[in-house]
Amino acid sequence: MDIHDIPVEFVDQIGAIKNISFPQQGHTSLVVKIETRDQQFIIKKTEHGLFNEWLSEEYKALQYLSTTGLPVPKAYAFHIQDKSRWLLMDYIDGISLRHFLACKPNLRDREKVISNYGLCLKQIHESQCPVGLRKNDQSWLDMMLMKASHNLANYNVNGTEELLIRLKNDRPKPIENTLIHGDFHTNNVLVNYNNVIGIIDWPRAAFGDPRFDIALAIRPKQDVFDHKGDKELFFESYGRLRITDEEYRYFQEGLYKFF
Ligand SMILES: Nc1ncnc2c1ncn2[C@@H]1O[C@H](COP(=O)(O)OP(=O)(O)O)[C@@H](O)[C@H]1O
Ligand SMILES: [Mg+2]
Repeated sequence: MDIHDIPVEFVDQIGAIKNISFPQQGHTSLVVKIETRDQQFIIKKTEHGLFNEWLSEEYKALQYLSTTGLPVPKAYAFHIQDKSRWLLMDYIDGISLRHFLACKPNLRDREKVISNYGLCLKQIHESQCPVGLRKNDQSWLDMMLMKASHNLANYNVNGTEELLIRLKNDRPKPIENTLIHGDFHTNNVLVNYNNVIGIIDWPRAAFGDPRFDIALAIRPKQDVFDHKGDKELFFESYGRLRITDEEYRYFQEGLYKFF
């Protein structure tokens, strides 16, 4: 992508673009950092049926979330162009927690940031859920299982028919819903000086089961939740509840495979 590809609707809104660059990328989109004379923005672009759906959901969610006080980027505009979708939002000046941990910070910084990551999830789960995200008549899990069936039938996902049947038959015991992020892992949390300064990538924000966020938050990867004690630090600062191994498997190794 270069400057000339950027939709004119965006340029009309933000003014002349001085520079574009490409930050650390995710898996569903192309992300571009834009600089105008006095501000920095992010454009997130998708070109795939499922990812397009998610980007449109993310735009709606960011608008609802703007009243919560959570550190989420302000969304300015959404643009549809043939098969692609474009979202314009604020740039947040941090790096992903995943990237930060991969750079092997010293132990003190590492512990501090994992502890702040737990606090950040607590803050999400204790925020008042915006009305716009509460409007589902079905239970959150029913809605997610329905979306999982839809994704399995229409897109290339990692889950299988057998797994989905098991998830439908073998549900975890219900607990109280909270505001949830829906894709809460270290790639979607931006940090700076050991502090969480941004939470991004919100297409699955909902009034839903907080165990889904917890399960995704603590999944081990290289340099991430691979030290003895990482989980303990996280749960100490999160402080609300712990999940069982069975619940972890249900969400992280089960439901998440369809998204
Ligand atoms: N608002 C933002 N401010 C700063 N960097 C961002 C912002 N949004 C996305 N990024 C960068 O782009 C990467 C991918 O963005 P994300 O929304 O997570 O997309 P994906 O759905 O492809 O995972 C992030 O890890 C981060 O490096
Ligand atoms: Mg992401």
